[in-house]
Amino acid sequence: MKLRWGIIGLGKIAGHFARDFIHASSDQNELVAVASRSLDKARAFAQNHHITEYYGTYEDLLGDPNVDILYIATPHNSHKKYTIEALNAGKHVLCEKPMAVNKAELKEMIDVTRKNKVFLMEALWTRWNPVMLEVLQLIRSGKLGSIIKAEADFGFKAHFDPESRLFNPQLAGGALLDIGIYPLFLSYLLLGEPNSISTKAEFSTTGVDVETSVELNYAHNVKFQATCTLLAETDTVARITCEKAKIVIKARWHEAESYQITYADGKIEEHSVELQNRGYYQEVKHCYERVNSANAESDMWSLRNSLALVGILDQVRAKIGLVYPFEK
Ligand SMILES: NC(=O)c1ccc[n+]([C@@H]2O[C@H](COP(=O)([O-])OP(=O)(O)OC[C@H]3O[C@@H](n4cnc5c(N)ncnc54)[C@H](OP(=O)(O)O)[C@@H]3O)[C@@H](O)[C@H]2O)c1
Repeated sequence: MKLRWGIIGLGKIAGHFARDFIHASSDQNELVAVASRSLDKARAFAQNHHITEYYGTYEDLLGDPNVDILYIATPHNSHKKYTIEALNAGKHVLCEKPMAVNKAELKEMIDVTRKNKVFLMEALWTRWNPVMLEVLQLIRSGKLGSIIKAEADFGFKAHFDPESRLFNPQLAGGALLDIGIYPLFLSYLLLGEPNSISTKAEFSTTGVDVETSVELNYAHNVKFQATCTLLAETDTVARITCEKAKIVIKARWHEAESYQITYADGKIEEHSVELQNRGYYQEVKHCYERVNSANAESDMWSLRNSLALVGILDQVRAKIGLVYPFEK
């Protein structure tokens, strides 16, 4: 069955997604409708991306019977609301990261997806990045030995606007949920759930974190250092030190096109992959495959994986004391 897609929330990432969509097979996926809170914005977006249907309210898109799956690209605080409304309307959902602000929200969303027997997945596009796939395969093959330590950072200098998605606590802003999720995702992908964590954070005057570092501790003294900041452009590189070699995933590692392996004897190997645009089309293709399979859950980034990751984010937030106003 061909999937007819709709987008809710026409901001920055929705634009990237729509541009990338052309690389997902047109026999399998079609972007048919978009919704914004503003009809003019929806019309302009639809014209820009050659999309037939556009709406000035999200509710109109949720009620469109000609849409099978929704990509939800709104601020973090609203993911649960629109996902649940879409699932209850019988639609499948690909929801931007973090899919939920906390584990309790995500459990509710999963209950609704199971009740309605529809597909739900978190849009953690780095999971499909070809460099990530190669590095993961290499590490899991055991050829480089076990991981001894690893680190990844993600930082950029954000313009301070207290009302913006990044700084507004009502929208579940802050560095951790917006970009810290990526290094924590990498630690989870490589090493699983940590035994313990230690944290350090700095806060904005609005009450959200602007910089957070997390040390994740695993068995055999293995450590993963995850850092994120809205205060500075950082290298945004991932380094994984294994017993027999060191891997560096080059900037920006979460959307990498190349990586380097340095072996213990000093030999260096450079690897690169081909990526069209940003690579969001990979998750679109994956949704098509999973929706049309007998077990309509992702086997690449499952709901169990999303639960574990939001559980780690919850632990970090508890340690740094980041509670959003709507959680109090
Ligand atoms: N930016 C990135 O590179 C990136 C990368 C990966 C994932 N993401 C994720 O994608 C989601 C959206 O991020 P974004 O960067 O696209 O944000 P954005 O540019 O601020 O766009 C978010 C859109 O959400 C809608 N919205 C609904 N209620 C809103 C409210 N109260 N305040 C502001 N906007 C509201 C707006 O669309 P309408 O005006 O059309 O209704 C807005 O344009 C987040 O979950 C983020 O973590 C972003």
